[in-house]
Amino acid sequence: MARRKLIAGNWKMNGQLADGIALARGIAQEVKALGKPACEFLVCPPFTLLTSVKKALRGSKVALGAQDCHFNAKGAHTGDISPQMLKDVGCSYVILGHSERRADHGESDELICKKAAAAHAAGLKTVICIGETLKQRDDGKAIEVCTSQIMGSVPSDSTSTDTVIAYEPVWAIGTGKVPTTADVEEVHAAVRKVLAKKLGKGNANKMRILYGGSVKPGNAKELLSLPDVDGALIGGASLKVEDFLAIAKNSGC
Ligand code: PGA
Repeated sequence: MARRKLIAGNWKMNGQLADGIALARGIAQEVKALGKPACEFLVCPPFTLLTSVKKALRGSKVALGAQDCHFNAKGAHTGDISPQMLKDVGCSYVILGHSERRADHGESDELICKKAAAAHAAGLKTVICIGETLKQRDDGKAIEVCTSQIMGSVPSDSTSTDTVIAYEPVWAIGTGKVPTTADVEEVHAAVRKVLAKKLGKGNANKMRILYGGSVKPGNAKELLSLPDVDGALIGGASLKVEDFLAIAKNSGC
């Protein structure tokens, strides 16, 4: 089953207007230079940069995504952004359930599921994040935690077209630590199994499961050549054109 790799940048809360535009332009230019890349590219800037980054990406094959959304289309939700608003400014993707949102904003699986359903209904694709903490890994509960996050946060009518899963061990995010390839492969294979149970084998076999957490040019090849790893969600290294592109190139894009 050939799944097209997705190389996704999660810019998090980084970038003023000028930095964001320069980064997007640089990425667009380098991706164009690849001709017909084997991978799909995505950047997810903060809300304030979406419109400018969309412009900077014009004519390139790099997709635009946001880092969160509300589950309602509009209304009295101060500080929130709806899936329809994201569509309106040119997003095709939204990241949901990132561990930083689960931790900083107390987001539950149930809430993430509601957001994902609303995003799908608005025509957005979702990148739904899951992953265990260090304590959970040490307690031998990594697979159990990821299984329950998949069961709770992925809407039951999700398909391989509208949903991407990102496995991001919390302890690997921004720390420079990465699990062993055997551990990554074990979790990804288990996630695919749970997806098959939840969404059917057809969807599970076609659905992309990204790895995220300290992906760098130096470890990308090893991680992204694992059989069930279908791309990467990249934080820190996505803020530098050279690193982001080196990760893609080292992964055979
Ligand atoms: P990192 O972040 O690449 O900086 O570890 C990944 C993420 O949180 O998506």
